[in-house]
This record gives sequence, C-alpha cells and structure tokens, in this order.
Amino acid sequence: MAEAASSTPGLILGIESSCDETAAAVVRRDGVVLANVIASQIALHAHYGGVVPELASREHLTNIAPVVHAAMREAGCGFADIEAVAVTEGPGLAGALLVGLMYAKGLALSLGKPLIAVNHLEGHIHAVLLDAARLASPLPQPILALVVSGGHTHLYLANTEEQVWRYRNVGRTVDDAAGEAFDKVAKLLGLGYPGGPWIEALAVSGDPTAVPFGPIHVKPKAHRAAESATPQFLFSFSGLKTAVLRYVQTHPLQPGIVARRAALAALRDPTPADALPLCDTETRNLIASFQRAVVEDLVRKTFAAAKAVGARSVIVSGGVAANAELRRRFTQTAAQHGLPVAFPGRGMATDNAAMIAAAAWPRLLAGQIASAELTAEPSLALGR
Ligand code: KG4
Ligand code: ZN
Repeated sequence: MAEAASSTPGLILGIESSCDETAAAVVRRDGVVLANVIASQIALHAHYGGVVPELASREHLTNIAPVVHAAMREAGCGFADIEAVAVTEGPGLAGALLVGLMYAKGLALSLGKPLIAVNHLEGHIHAVLLDAARLASPLPQPILALVVSGGHTHLYLANTEEQVWRYRNVGRTVDDAAGEAFDKVAKLLGLGYPGGPWIEALAVSGDPTAVPFGPIHVKPKAHRAAESATPQFLFSFSGLKTAVLRYVQTHPLQPGIVARRAALAALRDPTPADALPLCDTETRNLIASFQRAVVEDLVRKTFAAAKAVGARSVIVSGGVAANAELRRRFTQTAAQHGLPVAFPGRGMATDNAAMIAAAAWPRLLAGQIASAELTAEPSLALGR
C-alpha cells in the first residue's frame, strides 16, 4: 500500500484508537496512502472473547507513540511535512478514544498544526471514497453508505455541498450490529475472535441453504422513535443469533462445540484452518446458513433503501465489508439494479487510520478545525 513520499507537502497524519486497534497513517491530498500502520490487540482480547475496555486503553498507551513514529518512517517524511493531524473523536470506547485524542492534541499543539476531529463512521465511508478518488471517477451522488461493523449497522445518504460532505442517517440496527452477530455466533460455536473471519472461512465448506433462516422483519410499532420525516430502514440481528442458539440446543452439536473450544484453546495461535477439521457437516451448514441470512438481509434492506431515497450509488464499508460473500452478493444485486457499488480496498475495511486521514482532508480544506476543548465523544452520531 505504501508509496514513496513526494517532496510536495500536503500530508495529513491520521490517528485512530476507538476500539482495539492503535493505528496511524499518512495520507496525501490526492488520496495516496503513504503509510498505514496498525497495532492490533486481537491476540490480547481473544482470550476474553471480546474487547476489554480497560486493557484496550492500556495497550493504546503503550502503542500510540511507536505506531505514529512507524507511520512517519514508512511515509518517509518528518513532522514538518505534515499539514494537519487528524484524530477519531468518536464513537468508541471512552478510555481508548482519549489516548489517541490526547496524543493528537499534544502533537498538533507542539507542531503548531491544525487538529481535525473525525467521526469514526465517516472514516469508514472515506475508506471507500479514498479509493474512488484515486480512480479519478467519483461515485454518482447521492451515495447510500452501509457502515457494517462490530458496533454499527447504519445506512447514511451522503453527498457533497460546496465540497463539504453531508450525511443523513436513513437506517440502523435496533439491537445487535451485524459484526457483533458474527462475533457472538462464532463464540457460541467455539470458534475464535473476532468471529467474522472464522465464519467466512468455514462457511465456504457448508451448504448455505441447509438451515432455512428466513428474512428478518423488524416490527415498526416497537420502534416509534424511528418514525420521523426521515425514512428509517431497520436491521435486527439478535433474533438470528437466538435462532442459531436454539438450533444448537435442539441438535446434537454441543459435544462438538466443547471439544472444539478445548482443542483451539490448546493451540498457541489458532486459525480457521485449525477449526475446519473440528467442524462436522451439520456445523459447517449452520455457519454457512447464518452467513447467508445476514448477507441476504443486508443486501435486501440496503437496496430497498437505495430505491426509496433515490441513491445513485452504493458503498459498503466497516469490518464486515471484508467478507467476500457479502461483496459477491452486493456486486450481483447492484448490477441488477444498475447501481455502481464500491467497497474498501485491501486492509481498509476493518479499523485503520488512513480512513481517518482521508475523511479529514475535505474538513481541512473547508477550514473545519477542532477547538482546543475537543474531547472524546463515545456516542457520537453521524449526520442528521
Ligand atoms: O470496523 P471494525 O474493524 O471495528 C468496528 O468499528 O467495530 O469491525 C470489526 C467487526 C467484527 O465484528 C468482525 O467480526 C467483523 O468486523 N469482521 C467480519 C470480517 N472481518 C471482520 N465479518 C464478516 N466477515 C469478515 N471477513
Ligand atoms: Zn470501525
């Protein structure tokens, strides 16, 4: 991904620490990523089957300075070449966000450079726009962006007004995020953390039609708050997770789960390839059927929303957008609807700082500089 630094300035240093990745990146104004360094805490949290906030903050503290310096080295530039420092303001874990934010604030202050505050969700959207910009053929607007990660399953209608990006929230999950469902089902089946890559790898060898999980309907009555002038497309994944649990309870899968969990726990660094021979046909079919149900739901509601709001292109971003089956089904359905669809490039779907620097560029150009009072916003929303 890294390219040789040009002697022309116009670089933003991005910093991201909202969850369990400490990341720093250097992105040029024309969208070229000069460095994209990520220190993952996956191994640390895998033991607990989820992110432990206190541990995450401590790990960010240890990693933040080395990660920023590694990014500067990789980009082949010095702090004097940086035009601005961008940082994730929220949403995310408060203690984790504060580490990146305080580091970025201190750095910007000491360098005398502007500080740009970026919404993490906007970052995920710009992970795709960054690539589109490099292709020099921007997506037609308005763009419907599905941000599908461990914490979010949200739909935004995005467009630019005088070079400034505007977002309108037109969909959300009423309970679990899609990535959270992948993580919980993987845990339930005795697989590793985070669950998405495990489910994806194992689903390939299962029959996705074996377990007939049907379409997911969300009762609008239970979510009256969503009834506003803005249409809301509602997702829900906790029922599907419960359906998987019920399937496990009513089929003879439990002994296999216990054995698999123990076998993987005995390995130093277990991978999905280690789990494959530990999964019988019924388990593989269940995994493939679960993934099929999630992907079908995301595709169906996203394209229904695209039609309803008059979107002219579609973006899918966030950790779950790394999933190859999801990309295949979105690409297929987008072609049927005659809509262009775009995904993040390699390594840009899951959390990183290049997406934060990319989202910061239009903000810097529009003069949207953060104030000295900037602080972490764990529940920060995006758009109207
Ligand atoms: O965007 P991200 O790195 O962090 C958040 O902002 O949440 O997304 C992490 C989520 C996790 O739930 C993980 O299981 C899921 O993305 N994920 C995947 C895949 N890779 C990561 N889900 C499905 N298939 C994948 N290949
Ligand atoms: Zn994320």
